[in-house]
Amino acid sequence: MSITNFQFYNPTKLVVKHDAAPEIADYIAADNIKSVLLVYGQGSVKRIGVYDKVVEALKYKNITIYELPGVRANPELQTVIKGIDICRCHKIEAVLPLGGGSTYDSCKAIAVGACFSDDIKSEQIWECYENKRIAEKALPIYGVLTISATGSEMNNGGVVQNDALKKKWSFDADCLYPKVSIVDPKIQSFLPWYQQVNGFVDAFVHVVESLINIDEPETVETTYAYDISLCRSIINAGDKLQINTNDHVARANFIWAATCALNYMSGVAMSGGDWATHLLQHSMAAVDTKISHGAGLGVAFPAFVKVNAMRGLRLKTFDRIAREVFNKQGWQGLIEGFQDMLKRWGHPTTLNELFGREVNEEERKELLRIFMMFPLCLHYPDGKLPEDIAWETYKAM
Ligand code: NZQ
Ligand code: ZN
Repeated sequence: MSITNFQFYNPTKLVVKHDAAPEIADYIAADNIKSVLLVYGQGSVKRIGVYDKVVEALKYKNITIYELPGVRANPELQTVIKGIDICRCHKIEAVLPLGGGSTYDSCKAIAVGACFSDDIKSEQIWECYENKRIAEKALPIYGVLTISATGSEMNNGGVVQNDALKKKWSFDADCLYPKVSIVDPKIQSFLPWYQQVNGFVDAFVHVVESLINIDEPETVETTYAYDISLCRSIINAGDKLQINTNDHVARANFIWAATCALNYMSGVAMSGGDWATHLLQHSMAAVDTKISHGAGLGVAFPAFVKVNAMRGLRLKTFDRIAREVFNKQGWQGLIEGFQDMLKRWGHPTTLNELFGREVNEEERKELLRIFMMFPLCLHYPDGKLPEDIAWETYKAM
């Protein structure tokens, strides 16, 4: 791909608006949909009051509601299968995630499984993650996002964890773009600070992973400049929100940056990006489901930069990000700037800090084993990040 030859497609309607969550019912009713599966996490939506408002609005529009509560952060396959069963049993017409990336991602899989023909079992949804089944059809997804981080509200991918296999894997398909996503900045002021930082770091890493596969940044100057602006905007909003969680202008700026970080705008003409840091993180969640995505990325990214730089790779790109985002020099400057940001926001910078204990060599080898199970790590020989490089990276964390 090059800037003279690329495609961009995104059909999701995104609504960023105060107090707009109940409006999701209007969009559903306008499409003449009569039943939804309402999917949410472990209780935050009830505590912050948004659940009651959405349910009331759905009832007002005479939309029949079926519910699937309890989605875990690092969502697990069993909940997805349960959701598919409910949809199939009641012939539900649409899926409504009310939550964060974990809820959205579960809904994407449920939406696909709900459209399986009768001869396919619900648990065969896992075959999509293993690249053994192509998702061609899905129920429409109308969502309300309660934490900005993943970009799932406006992209066509989803990540789910198969605990039994220790695989936290993803798949994407065009039928997975949500039809409508509503994001209310006020709702996110209830987030604990640690969760907010997870979002800042996740969005930041989506942007840099979109661009670090380019050796000659000046050839994709438009996307590059856009990405650098996103990084600066994320940091700026994060710093403001650390001072005042009710700064709704900073919040809305972050919300838009986080969506743009992975609605594929940040990756236009960028050769598909390099998602090794993400896969390094997914292995951590597979080992311990309490490890949050953003925190793991914060630990993995500097190690990835260091190991690449020691091999003389991507030096020009690392230097340019260091200068333009952090006002520092070289790959060391990039690591320093990135880790200063994490420390300022109170996030871990090492694997030991992340797990809250010493992670010994044997455990790091287990992370490596899980990492090497990923079927595809783009842009590396044989589609895999070589094992020796992955091992060096785990040791550098
Ligand atoms: O479970 P509840 O009670 O809802 O609590 C959640 C959860 O504990 C809480 N929360 C969410 N909104 C809240 C709130 N607490 C108070 N106030 C609110 N307004 O936050 C916690 C984390 O929620 P989760 O949905 O897990 O967060 P996030 O949006 O960061 O999603 C992370 C998941 O998305 C995947 C990650 O791997 C991870 O599994 N990703 C999905 C991607 C995609 N679909 O494109 C790409 C990403 O790179 C990422 O891999
Ligand atoms: Zn991510």
